[in-house]
Amino acid sequence: MIVPGSSSQQLAAALADETSRPLATATYDRFPDGERLAAVPSFEGPRATVVATTDSDAAWVELLQLQDAVREAGAEHVTTVVPYMGYARQDASFREGQPISARAMARAISTGCDRVVLVTPHEPAVADFYTVPVETVDAASVLASPLGSLTDPLFLAPDAGAVDIAVQVRDAYGDGETDHFEKHRDRETGAVEVSPSDAAVDGRDVVVVDDIVATGSTMGEAVEVLRRRGAARVVAACVHPVLVGNATTRLRAAGVDRIVGTDTVERGCSVVTAAPAVADALQAEPIAGDG
Ligand code: R5P
Repeated sequence: MIVPGSSSQQLAAALADETSRPLATATYDRFPDGERLAAVPSFEGPRATVVATTDSDAAWVELLQLQDAVREAGAEHVTTVVPYMGYARQDASFREGQPISARAMARAISTGCDRVVLVTPHEPAVADFYTVPVETVDAASVLASPLGSLTDPLFLAPDAGAVDIAVQVRDAYGDGETDHFEKHRDRETGAVEVSPSDAAVDGRDVVVVDDIVATGSTMGEAVEVLRRRGAARVVAACVHPVLVGNATTRLRAAGVDRIVGTDTVERGCSVVTAAPAVADALQAEPIAGDG
């Protein structure tokens, strides 16, 4: 049975369709003191697949509660799908006294499940922080389908770390060049500066591809530079459209024509689903059958 977190309703339903597994109706309540209570009153069967993106602290609590709830209801095998793993960018102790938050979160999840499926984690190495088997699924290529017809397309990564993702989207689109900018982020202020590559963008449609758009600083800088240099249309494409605060309007102000994301984080721009890629990982589960 597929058990959704409150932030992964759309993806969980798409996964239930893809895998022909039943979809549980979980409930998400709060006590007067603010504590949360996520429950699965309808859970049946020996196997559970919890699907819960962790884009907020509340979502983390919910995920841990759902894992525990299905065990309590009799699940013998629990797979947890983390469509977007929050805290994954804190994958090292950057200063004395700081935690490795990604490790702390991964260990907490590992205590309540038998297997984890991660979708396009910020760094593949975060998989090593889990103490149960992890499968990593790459969902970037689905971003090609909503792009429509592009003129002389350039698929641009805003920093070197996103080049692989830009190449995947270009390959799935089937046409166009790839390139990347260099990025510098001020650790104190979070301000981002990008150094343009030499790629000619005048009159071309440019798709800026990144794994995450959070504050929009990185994407916004890239879009602004491309606009100044004469790009025809600029599309912002990302696997995880976290889009906190004013990120969407910030990108609009920078001159973006369209924002395209997947449903690993459910936002207005989540126009494609990561469900087929996740379903493949679930179908390959070592134990046959599902409840
Ligand atoms: C960083 O390496 C990531 O790939 C993204 O570029 C970054 O997380 C985006 O964050 P923001 O939208 O806050 O600039």
